[in-house]
Amino acid sequence: MIEVADRLKHVEEYYFSKKLKEVAFLKSQGKPIINLGIGSPDLEPPFKAIMALGESLNDKTAHKYQSYLGLLELREAIVDFYKNHYSVNLSAKTEVLPLIGSKEGIMHISMAFLNPGDEVLIPNPGYPTYASVTKLLGAKPIYYNLTEDKNWEPNFVALERLDLSKVKLMWINYPHMPTGAKASHKFYDDVIAFAKRHNILVINDNPYSFILNKNPKSILKYKGAKDVCLELNSISKTFNMSGWRVGMLAGNYDYINSVLKIKSNVDSGMFYGIQKGAIEALKSSEMWFISLNSVYQQRRKLIWKLATALNCTYDEGTSGLFVWAKLPPHIKSEEFTNLVLKEHSIFIAPGTVFGSNGEGYIRLSLCEEEDVIKEAIARV
Ligand SMILES: Cc1ncc(COP(=O)(O)O)c(C=O)c1O
Repeated sequence: MIEVADRLKHVEEYYFSKKLKEVAFLKSQGKPIINLGIGSPDLEPPFKAIMALGESLNDKTAHKYQSYLGLLELREAIVDFYKNHYSVNLSAKTEVLPLIGSKEGIMHISMAFLNPGDEVLIPNPGYPTYASVTKLLGAKPIYYNLTEDKNWEPNFVALERLDLSKVKLMWINYPHMPTGAKASHKFYDDVIAFAKRHNILVINDNPYSFILNKNPKSILKYKGAKDVCLELNSISKTFNMSGWRVGMLAGNYDYINSVLKIKSNVDSGMFYGIQKGAIEALKSSEMWFISLNSVYQQRRKLIWKLATALNCTYDEGTSGLFVWAKLPPHIKSEEFTNLVLKEHSIFIAPGTVFGSNGEGYIRLSLCEEEDVIKEAIARV
């Protein structure tokens, strides 16, 4: 056997990759599994996006290598989207970079800015990829606590007490996954000031801002953000296109250009038809967002019922694709979710997948139809 690289010794297979194999096995044994564990939108993408993809296949250039920067038309659509929805002005030529999903961006940004031994501020709880990518590159995750009593916002007093001399990047993600918490205006001002004081690049990972959220925010709207911040965004959740793999990076030219240096050595552009479809999705009217959210609103009411049936409590003022529910005291998340899977054939994510501060919580997805959620309630 050939020995794998040392970096692989510091990361484990993604929890959902492992768990979904177990869930698939249970299904193959005839168990009627209900999957409320993952956030893969089940609703249709915008019809125009599908049509544009189909129609593009006959274009002469459809099957060739595409620009590393994406079509100018796609970058313009991203710029218009940022202007219309976040009131942020960007240059299509220099300040946006289409990505093959925002998850890809997490790796490429990290590769562009981290040397082995550098440190990275990572939310606990938070999206597990920030830490695994950091470890893969030989850098060190420094977890910062998010807790319910602070509405899942970082405590800057505690952060200032840390030795920040080796910290190069800070990941933030609001509306926050897994808790659904929304950040205050003050938070964005504070994090920018913090980043400037300590010369840290802050990346706001922003894929959930249009899900059950009346006021979508971009960090780039805040004063001074372009000096020290980048923003990742994605069409995965906003337009039910997670399998298309389209994300975007926005921010100042120098940072974007550094990421492009990595990216242009790793991939060779995004398939033309996918870009054409993404352009149409990004042009969707206000009606798209209204009808998408009306479906999620109804589902969320049912998921709240399910959470109550499971003896959990939850905050009704959150955003995003999940309900983050608190277990009764002294109950361990993973034991609880394993039991629910065993007894009721319902797959739910334990809060600990997202970090130690997720202990005592579970995460329920809104990506199942109402009838399926009703069936889950009936089973419990
Ligand atoms: C917080 C967060 N960031 C990024 C991603 C990745 O999204 P994409 O499909 O754009 O790669 C996800 C996906 O679940 C997520 O929850």
